[in-house]
Amino acid sequence: MKHRFALLALMLAALLALAGCSLRGKPGPGPEVPRPDSVLDPVVLYRENCSACHGAEGKHGPAMTLGDPVYLAIVDDDVLRTTISKGRTGTAMSAFAQKEGGMLTAQQIDAIIHGIRQRWSQPNVLSGVVAPPYAAKAPGNPQPGQAVYNTFCASCHGNGNQGGSKAGSVTNGAYLSLISDQGLRTLVIAGRPDFNAPDWRSNVPGHPMSDQEISDVVAWLAAQRRQPSPVPYTANPSSTANSSPGGVH
Ligand code: HEC
Ligand code: HEC
Repeated sequence: MKHRFALLALMLAALLALAGCSLRGKPGPGPEVPRPDSVLDPVVLYRENCSACHGAEGKHGPAMTLGDPVYLAIVDDDVLRTTISKGRTGTAMSAFAQKEGGMLTAQQIDAIIHGIRQRWSQPNVLSGVVAPPYAAKAPGNPQPGQAVYNTFCASCHGNGNQGGSKAGSVTNGAYLSLISDQGLRTLVIAGRPDFNAPDWRSNVPGHPMSDQEISDVVAWLAAQRRQPSPVPYTANPSSTANSSPGGVH
């Protein structure tokens, strides 16, 4: 009995404390919840803003691998800062800088970049290796790009609609409409080591991809964006109704 009373008293006290707060219309001192702007821990910032897409340790996420020393050796801080601040129009990479409508201060963005480099860079990972430039110097040519695709990509990503590919289709127009040209270039240069996707040094023995081949395959993939998808999803209203879930209950 005594026990119960004590418990009841505790609950009542808690309730009163809560009511007291809301009656006054402003929160009491309470536990320290830091103002979002004051968080400068790069691990926390990365976890809360980036990991859902780029993966917990910069790997195995749906979006490209940031936790890759090869990628980090090719990209410079200006690109990182601009991309994180302004995002990439037309893709899921949104603008994070407060100036651009996002949630992060310039200081927080610098902290994230510093954290990414500190945790995942390897200073000499490309020493003695000539890597292709991060950004294309000239537009590629889609025509030779198709042959480049067949040589360097089709063995894993398949040939258009023929199916049977080991990795996901990257020639699908709907997929391609969600990724920028630079996004494609980055993926071709850096690969996705977390999924054993090769970087520009390729899985064709003795034949790393040249800068021209990279630009051309990106141009060819970009050209596939314009192809109409084989099954327009608005064509048949009744099939849409049939496929709508939960209609029975
Ligand atoms: C909603 C998903 C999503 C979130 C959240 C997200 N990204 Fe991205 N990010 C993407 C996608 C998709 C791309 C590829 C964009 C493209 O096609 O160019 C990308 C691209 C990038 C690139 C450029 C890669 C390149 O081409 O060199 C960087 C750097 C980057 N993100 C960093 C971050 C950081 C840091 C955060 C957290 C502050 C973050 N992203 C949050 C989806 C996301
Ligand atoms: C050895 C097999 C292999 C080769 C060769 C290869 N890839 Fe990949 N690629 C993968 C795997 C595995 C993934 C990650 C999982 C997935 O998307 O299927 C991937 C991911 C990608 C992605 C990102 C897909 C996404 O989900 O956003 C793109 C774009 C891509 N590859 C393009 C290319 C291009 C272009 C080439 C040729 C220049 C190429 N790949 C060569 C295996 C390969």
